[in-house]
Amino acid sequence: MTQDELKAQVGQAALHYIQPGMMVGVGTGSTVNKFIEALAAMKGQIQGAVSSSLASTERLLALGIPVFDANEVESLAVYVDGADEIDHAGHMVKGGGAALTREKIVAAQSRQFICIADESKLVSTLGAFALPVEIIPMASTRLIRQFTQMGGQARIRLKDGSPLVTDNGQHILDVTGLSISDPLAFEVQVSQWPGVLTVGVFAFQKAHVCLLGTPQGVKTLTF
Ligand code: 5RP
Repeated sequence: MTQDELKAQVGQAALHYIQPGMMVGVGTGSTVNKFIEALAAMKGQIQGAVSSSLASTERLLALGIPVFDANEVESLAVYVDGADEIDHAGHMVKGGGAALTREKIVAAQSRQFICIADESKLVSTLGAFALPVEIIPMASTRLIRQFTQMGGQARIRLKDGSPLVTDNGQHILDVTGLSISDPLAFEVQVSQWPGVLTVGVFAFQKAHVCLLGTPQGVKTLTF
């Protein structure tokens, strides 16, 4: 099976968690795009979606799924999103698609986080994937230095030769060389650094369920 087929498999499997009448929290990325395509089959039955990025909003609307502002909705039963890495406790690294801040906000609003991913994302320790951190641009030099002191190497993410600008008008640092053995402590520590908007470790907003795409079928992990 190709990676694309594994993603389609888990995107479809996530529909099992969607009930008629629900407002659905929707993440961002190529795996979530498969979920959005699958969700279109239920568009007449659900209330709509709260989206974690402009890109997902565009896709949802194009398929006729109404999108609501997060502030219009008190809480969501379910949030479906991908991950760059997930460990055996449901902690994740996210933000490869630069949508981590809005993803964390919608996840925090949701009672259940359903992570959909192909099996290559399952790791024993987070940190092999370059950790995304959304930052306020004026703090970038100091934050790069702080990550160096921690043993990592941070670089500003570029797009077409210039710093990538997120949906929130900010920049992304990608940090390599870290081994995140205590995700909760790491998230607390880095979140407190002035200029950090969101760190891509999702330990407080961890997954409750992970639907893992494998050639043998979808494997369900619960945390
Ligand atoms: C976007 C994310 C994505 O969920 C993560 O990057 C996984 O993406 P993909 O499904 O394309 O592998 O966190 O900010």
